Amino acid sequence: MTARLNVNIDHVATIREARKTIEPSVGAAAILCEKAGADGITVHLRSDRRHIQDADLDVLRGVVTTYLNVEMAATDEMVEIAKRTRPDAVSLVPESPTEITTEGGLDVIGNFDAVAKAAKELSAAGIFVSIFIDPIEDQITAAKKAGAGQIELCTAEYAELTLGARAAHGEGRKKAAAEVERLHDAALHAQNKGLIVAAGHGLTTRNIAPLAAMPEIAEFNIGHNIISRAVFCGLEEAVREMLAAIGR
Ligand code: PXP
Repeated sequence: MTARLNVNIDHVATIREARKTIEPSVGAAAILCEKAGADGITVHLRSDRRHIQDADLDVLRGVVTTYLNVEMAATDEMVEIAKRTRPDAVSLVPESPTEITTEGGLDVIGNFDAVAKAAKELSAAGIFVSIFIDPIEDQITAAKKAGAGQIELCTAEYAELTLGARAAHGEGRKKAAAEVERLHDAALHAQNKGLIVAAGHGLTTRNIAPLAAMPEIAEFNIGHNIISRAVFCGLEEAVREMLAAIGR
């Protein structure tokens, strides 16, 4: 079975917020992604609201007919927003005020009580819980214990190793291949624990093939590369390109 694709449309809101105006519309973006074949829409409600705003969640809950996944920190404020807007899934992610984007997986072991509390409340509200983590066995085990139904493996390190010159030459290639193995071992471990496995961060049509070939990965969350391509070829075409790269 090939993996599902959730398109992360945060950067549509990033453009809008650059002018604090009304366009481009995240609702329209979500509709176009679905029309092009996306299986779901992902957005990240950050505590600094640098792109997606609370009102966007209401708009998206109204228009998304496939699957709405909201990434958020495991805080009381965010859990309350999720309970009110009722996305299909919440992905718990780490957040640091100075980061440009999410920098790595959530340390579930180090933040166990807060993560387990958030997961419990979200599950009780009927929201599916995914936790974004690095491909580390102990973190996967902790995510299961905290109440996640899914883990999303952070592919940031793999993505970094597949960029430009690093990917083209010997040592970089070897390191990227080793990282693929690490992600595969983690995916197997998670599946053995009964967790659904997702992956995301820094994935592109150029680097996704080895991950798309893993039957254990059921879902990808991809934003930056799709929106970047959309600037040149339009959003629907960019989504279709990514679906083709996944093998759909
Ligand atoms: N998954 C998670 C948990 C993320 O935080 C992000 C970035 O918001 C993504 C996937 C998508 O990453 P990218 O925009 O690099 O495709």
